[in-house]
Amino acid sequence: MTTASISGSYIVGTGYARGVEYDRLERQAALSCPREFEAMFAHGLRHGGIVLDLGSGNGAVTRRLRAALPDSVVYGSDVDHELLASVEPPVLPIVDGRIPLADNSVDDVVMRFVAQHLTPRVRAEVFAEIRRVLVPGGRLHVVDVDDSDAGTSSGKVVRGLVAIFSELRTLQAADGGDRYVVKKIPAELVEAGFTQVDPVTSAVTTDDHPISAFAVHMGPDRYVPLVSSGALTIEQLAVVGWSWENFLRDPDAFISINVHTVHAVSP
Ligand SMILES: C[S@@+](CC[C@H](N)C(=O)[O-])C[C@H]1O[C@@H](n2cnc3c(N)ncnc32)[C@H](O)[C@@H]1O
Repeated sequence: MTTASISGSYIVGTGYARGVEYDRLERQAALSCPREFEAMFAHGLRHGGIVLDLGSGNGAVTRRLRAALPDSVVYGSDVDHELLASVEPPVLPIVDGRIPLADNSVDDVVMRFVAQHLTPRVRAEVFAEIRRVLVPGGRLHVVDVDDSDAGTSSGKVVRGLVAIFSELRTLQAADGGDRYVVKKIPAELVEAGFTQVDPVTSAVTTDDHPISAFAVHMGPDRYVPLVSSGALTIEQLAVVGWSWENFLRDPDAFISINVHTVHAVSP
């Protein structure tokens, strides 16, 4: 892998085949990007501008941003150059933490599901670099997780998964990641000199998508890496699969997943 200074808990293919991980990112984007983009447009994301999708992965979000902003230039950008090779140009490989763009040249930066994989020190460096490239008045839109406020469901699946979610958090924390990160972002952005910092919580529910679309967060596939790492037994994974199947058969099943975004302006 041609990778420049990946620092954090996201390593593609850990526990998954690479193609399976690409598919997971795609389904995750399909589920909640529309809601996230609504929040971004409400916080100034503008048509006809220069947009940087920082930590673009395989481009699932980059493609959706380009479709939503046909008059804008949307750059994919990542420290993982092999992943970035799967994204349509224009793309910007990050080397040694530097975004290869001039100072004051970007209108909006989108940073989705990246902060949770970084240590606080690396997040501070990334926020400083984002401020360097944003035009005065340019905006940063962070999308990330807070497992203390993840949402609700009609019950059966979530009860069975509590212990497993806890294991997932522990594993990610051991690698420098943080599944409560969204709570910390507003103060970190103020510290980095951003203004008009606005945390927003919205939701996607089974009124918006069929239940099967939520498998990407709650179905058994999600937990395969825990089996690969030895944190979960194959029997426990089977229990997750069984409870998910039961949940799908319940005519009253309901899921609401919270979508956390934080928006800020570079002065
Ligand atoms: C979970 S993936 C999210 C991909 C995409 N944003 C999405 O939502 O589908 C996290 C991505 O952040 C990238 N990444 C990690 N550290 C980074 C950094 N310091 N700067 C830019 N990207 C980074 C990883 O290589 C990976 O592609």
